[in-house]
Order: sequence, then C-alpha cells, then structure tokens
Amino acid sequence: MTPPDSAPSASSSSSSFRDRVRSAASPRPDVTELDVRSSPAEPVGLFLDWLDAAVDAGVVQPHAFVLSTASSASGPTARTLLLKDVDEAFWFTSSSLSPKGRQIAEDERVALTFLWAAQGRQVRVTGSAVAGPREVAEQDFRHRHPDSRAVAIAVPQSTEVDDEAAAEAALDRARSRVEADDELVPDDWTAYRVLPVSVEFWQATIGRDQVRVRYDRVGDDWRRASLWP
Ligand SMILES: Cc1cc2nc3c(=O)[nH]c(=O)nc-3n(C[C@H](O)[C@H](O)[C@H](O)COP(=O)(O)O)c2cc1C
Repeated sequence: MTPPDSAPSASSSSSSFRDRVRSAASPRPDVTELDVRSSPAEPVGLFLDWLDAAVDAGVVQPHAFVLSTASSASGPTARTLLLKDVDEAFWFTSSSLSPKGRQIAEDERVALTFLWAAQGRQVRVTGSAVAGPREVAEQDFRHRHPDSRAVAIAVPQSTEVDDEAAAEAALDRARSRVEADDELVPDDWTAYRVLPVSVEFWQATIGRDQVRVRYDRVGDDWRRASLWP
C-alpha cells in the first residue's frame, strides 16, 4: 500500500497494480467488424444492433450506461443509469431535483457512454437532455416496483442522511402513500430524451488495436468519419 500522503511510486505501486490485473480477462471480440465504408448511414440502427448482440451474449444490464453532466458550480460528474428506450433519441428517467437533474437544468448538454467489455465495444453519445412528455415519465414511474417508488418519493435523491430514524419514518409514510394511490407520480420524476448530435462506435479487434467510427449530425443527415485509434 502507498502511504496516504506520499505520491505513488512508479516502480512499486504500478508493478503491484499490474500484478493485480494481469490475470483479468480481456475482450475476445467475436462480433461483426466495424468498417466506416460499410457502416449504415445513420447510427441508431447500429447502436441497436450492438445492444442486441450484448443481450444475446448474456451481458448483465446491457442497457446500463454512464451519464456525464457538467455545471459551473460542480464541474463534471458522472453516474450509471439504465437506458429506458431508444427511438431517434436516447431516453432515461430520473428526478429533476437530483444533482444530475439540477445540472441538466443549468446545462442540458450531456454525454452517454456504453461499455460492452466482453465484446470489446464502446459507444459514446453526445446531445442535449430535454424533458419528454409527462405521460412517459408517469408510465415509467408506475412500472417501478412499489418499494422503489416509495424510495423515490420519501426523500430527494442524493440527500445526505444525517438522521436514519427520520429517513426510515419518511420511507414508511411514502410506502403508505404508494399503497393508497397506485397512480401516484411525483412532479419531479422526469423522462429525459437525448437527441444525439454525435455517436461514436469503438470496436476492439483481433490483430488490429481498435476501430472507431464517429457519426456527426449535419442538418437532417449524418456525416461519418473514421477516427485514428
Ligand atoms: C446499474 C445502475 C442503474 C441505475 N439506474 C438509475 C436510473 O435509471 N435512474 C436514476 O435516477 N438512478 C439510477 N442509478 C443510480 C445513479 O447511478 C445515481 O446514484 C443516482 O441517480 C444519483 O445521481 P446524482 O446524485 O448524480 O443525481 C443507477 C445505478 C446503477 C449502478
């Protein structure tokens, strides 16, 4: 272990780190190769093909992604969410009162990063997160397990818990409200849609290092570019 207040030494700590990860599995991509010349004209279909491949391969929560947001007060932050739908946009749901919701209210530009490690695949999406129709948020919330609905309405998301007993009491009250009203949806529950302005596909390959293709929205069309790895 490196002492807490000394800089890590390249010779000792990084060699033990290498030992630590040496036996870890690496991607063995057994998937269709990516090629900018034969890739489809738009990115959403290709994203769904890659998602399907991850589902078929048994990836746990293949629809999990990292949502990055930024604001002048807090700087960049990121957290994992579950993708709720894809049409021409990428959809996720959360509380507009959460730190991420407040950051989006300040600056709607976000980045979504999907990693399917076993397939050696990454997809990076950028765009603006905009609140979708209220009915979508309502439908999403009502599909949640009653316990998770109660958690969502008991105390605002990411609030520091100083008083466990008060938080448990708030959860009990929230459970009673959910039991009494199956239709209850809090005002802050929001379905965000992100219309992509760029989507980058990264594919590890056997033999070559990796292949990258980025789609940039240009008006109603997409411009495709191959990126040096
Ligand atoms: C696999 C996984 C899926 C998650 N899905 C969601 C989600 O769909 N919506 C959500 O609000 N939080 C989800 N979370 C919790 C978030 O990562 C995060 O802790 C929470 O939203 C608070 O983030 P914030 O403080 O940046 O607003 C998920 C966490 C994990 C690990």
